[in-house]
Amino acid sequence: MKKLILFLIMATIFTGANAQAPQVIKLNERNLNRGSSLMQALQDRRSVREYADEPLSPADLSDLLWAADGVNRPDGHHTAATALNKEDVDIYVLLKEGAYLYKPAESELVLVAEGDHRELIRGGQEDFPIPPVTLVMVSTPSRFGVPDAKASMMMGAVDAGIVSQNIMLFCAANGLVTVPRASMDSAALSKLLKLEEGSIPVINNPVGYPVK
Ligand SMILES: Cc1cc2nc3c(=O)[nH]c(=O)nc-3n(C[C@H](O)[C@H](O)[C@H](O)COP(=O)(O)O)c2cc1C
Repeated sequence: MKKLILFLIMATIFTGANAQAPQVIKLNERNLNRGSSLMQALQDRRSVREYADEPLSPADLSDLLWAADGVNRPDGHHTAATALNKEDVDIYVLLKEGAYLYKPAESELVLVAEGDHRELIRGGQEDFPIPPVTLVMVSTPSRFGVPDAKASMMMGAVDAGIVSQNIMLFCAANGLVTVPRASMDSAALSKLLKLEEGSIPVINNPVGYPVK
């Protein structure tokens, strides 16, 4: 009996049951030598709402995030333009293991909430398939520091759209599939991601490999 209990404990440890999501996921150095041409990516871009049941490889996840909004210059500027260079958009990454915040300067993901919360992107689309990863673009318009709230929200929406387009072109060029989506449970996501008052989940991009 003692042997059986010991076996069960060891099996639990080694099969990863109760495995905790890592606090930090270090991303790979971006690979500039991949993907089709920009013209071919534009030709291939389309919305796809079906995803293979397969997690993204570390290389694909790393390059996807770098393309979306990584640091591309020594002065710290990013692949995505932002109004007034205020970098108002944060990317939250919903994985099976947990919800993470992408930190472009550190090239890492930082755990915000443990567990699988990917269904929160469904919003009104209740039959939307659960993708291996969804990137949620959150704008914080107060970062612009301008008194015109409407103008700030518009700039934030444009900035999030630019990140979304980077994601779409990366996917089209690299054999991944995605769709830009306004649908999501914004209130539940704001709570889960501990967003500050006024931050807006603007758009999300589920990303995966195509169904064969
Ligand atoms: C701002 C925006 C919001 C969108 N929201 C959703 C959405 O909530 N759900 C969805 O399935 N598609 C959504 N789409 C995708 C559009 O339906 C899609 O881009 C459109 O049908 C054109 O198809 P295409 O992307 O293949 O060219 C959205 C697109 C944009 C630009």
